[in-house]
Amino acid sequence: MSAELACFEQRCGARYSITEVIYNCPKCGGLLEAVYPKPEQTAADLKTIWRNRRTSNAALDQSGVWRYREFFPFLTDYTRLVTLREGTTPLLESRKSAAYGGLQRLFFKHQGFNPTGSFKDNGMTCGVAQAIRLGMKRVACVSTGNTSASMAAYASAAGLDPLIFLPHGNISFGKLAQALEYGARTLQVEANFDQILALVRQLAEKLGIYLLNSINPFRIEGQKTIMVELMDQRDWVVPDWVVLPGGNLGNTSAFGKAFREMKEWGLIDRLPRLAVIQAEGSAPFYDLMKSTDHSHLVPVEDPHTLATAIKIGDPVSWPKALFELNASGGVAEFVTEQEIADAKAMVGQSGIGCEPASAATLAGIRKMTSGGRMDSGADVVAVLTGNVLKDSDYSYQYHTGLLKGPDGEPIKSNLGNKPVIVPYDIERIASFLDG
Ligand code: F0G
Repeated sequence: MSAELACFEQRCGARYSITEVIYNCPKCGGLLEAVYPKPEQTAADLKTIWRNRRTSNAALDQSGVWRYREFFPFLTDYTRLVTLREGTTPLLESRKSAAYGGLQRLFFKHQGFNPTGSFKDNGMTCGVAQAIRLGMKRVACVSTGNTSASMAAYASAAGLDPLIFLPHGNISFGKLAQALEYGARTLQVEANFDQILALVRQLAEKLGIYLLNSINPFRIEGQKTIMVELMDQRDWVVPDWVVLPGGNLGNTSAFGKAFREMKEWGLIDRLPRLAVIQAEGSAPFYDLMKSTDHSHLVPVEDPHTLATAIKIGDPVSWPKALFELNASGGVAEFVTEQEIADAKAMVGQSGIGCEPASAATLAGIRKMTSGGRMDSGADVVAVLTGNVLKDSDYSYQYHTGLLKGPDGEPIKSNLGNKPVIVPYDIERIASFLDG
């Protein structure tokens, strides 16, 4: 058996060729995933191959995604893909953030170090590789900002035509600027993310455009490597918890699949628990996990949060995310706007920095330790999904006391760091600094 697309719905399980242009199962409408036979190499051999590639100068090996290519063997030809040297992101320990989160130790896997500043690059290099392989000319995505920045860069680098749909007025300027800079045709639509995704799925089919949202199974394959690289960096010692923000739930699906496959293939001996953190005004997955009825997700009609990256009311990958949380003993949690803002400032004060959605992780950890649901001695990795420069307006407003929540309520700058205006006068500056 070579690589195939399989319906994620257990009761259907239909299989399709890896080169079919489909995003849902044509039989039952379920989500699709890429499946493979077990690799020929032993787990020990794979670990050695992957470790040795870290010193290689070959582009494919320098990529923190393609370095692990045996883990997602859907391509037959590796010569045409585009890598911007995505992945290879650091695992950073912070004592300050650990203390804030109520933990003895805390590590951040910082995806903001990626070429376009977010974890989307891990998935996009794979999605675009598949687009090239299928002979697609135009690619499209709907985005809260990071997917569009990433898709624009990879598609342009590959000579494809990127087409981007954004919820007008609801993404940060940093991300919008990236899409423009990377040369994407950019449409700002007057609707929210969920509404635009429904429209673009129809449009893509009508116009033969390849869709690169996280419903695309090849995006998920690339994002799996975030966890493989994490385990490689930890010498394959599994943490107790992996904490991540949840929006459309592609990353949750990718991380869960990665850990299950690593266990199946003998690379690790157990699964960590996944903790998915959502913003209070945009938490349909939290609601689903809390409910006793897991048969369907009730969308949040009008989601709101200043963490615009995760402002999504109807996440498409919820069935996969639900499965992965159940498989790993995972949990979902929500945090308030104030909690996100203060946690973001704390990640910043730790010398690390991240965008608002990413800070939901530290806010969630603090909530879980204080509620007794996470042990202070637990071995925890939080995934910071985006770079601190992605949303500089938010940072500036927080530190200067100007930040207002979606409801217009002021957010307190509890950890604010306001700049000070001083005259050009050495004596007065000196007395200000000492006084
Ligand atoms: N963090 C950041 C910084 C994001 O940009 C996103 C998603 C998430 C977390 C949530 O990840 O959707 O896999 O659950 N951003 C998408 C976008 C939706 O369009 O850029 P998810």
